[in-house]
Amino acid sequence: MNNPVIKLHSPEQTEAVGQAIGQLCQATLVIYLIGNLGAGKTTLSRGILNACGHVGTVKSPTYTLIEPYELADKTILHADFYRLGDPEEVVLLGLDDFLSRPCIWLIEWPDNVIKSLPPPDISLNLSIKPSYHALSWVNFSTKGELITEKLTQIAEVTHKI
Ligand SMILES: Nc1ncnc2c1ncn2[C@@H]1O[C@H](COP(=O)(O)OP(=O)(O)O)[C@@H](O)[C@H]1O
Ligand SMILES: [Mg+2]
Repeated sequence: MNNPVIKLHSPEQTEAVGQAIGQLCQATLVIYLIGNLGAGKTTLSRGILNACGHVGTVKSPTYTLIEPYELADKTILHADFYRLGDPEEVVLLGLDDFLSRPCIWLIEWPDNVIKSLPPPDISLNLSIKPSYHALSWVNFSTKGELITEKLTQIAEVTHKI
């Protein structure tokens, strides 16, 4: 059987699926966001953050590399390592602080600095197709299972439309 894929036809759909994911995020969870520039990683993160209780804008952490969100009942660290020049520079970012307490990690371009990161519970893979953006996923832990089940459901429903 082919792995399921969700077809995202607009930024709003990408964000809505992010919200569905955000509703299932536990206080400690590591999500890798994989895909080319413009694939929708930040848009998906925006949905996740909003569903976790963040009110307001979600800027791409392209230049700051990390953007922490201290919410009422959880901490979310949104990272984008695309512009990290030297992988050794990651020590300057103070990731240890977030490793030592409950934190939801949303990591764009994890491959650029993978050795310094916690392993993923789930990876979300986005790719740009001619008429939609495709979302697929790989689950790595029991913590990611609720999310993969939900995404599989969404894929089944949207394929019937
Ligand atoms: N499913 C989609 N279809 C079309 N455009 C999308 C979709 N999802 C996101 N976008 C748009 O693509 C652009 C890049 O999205 P972004 O989330 O910043 O990508 P990334 O973080 O992967 O570089 C944004 O303008 C966003 O609104
Ligand atoms: Mg981005």
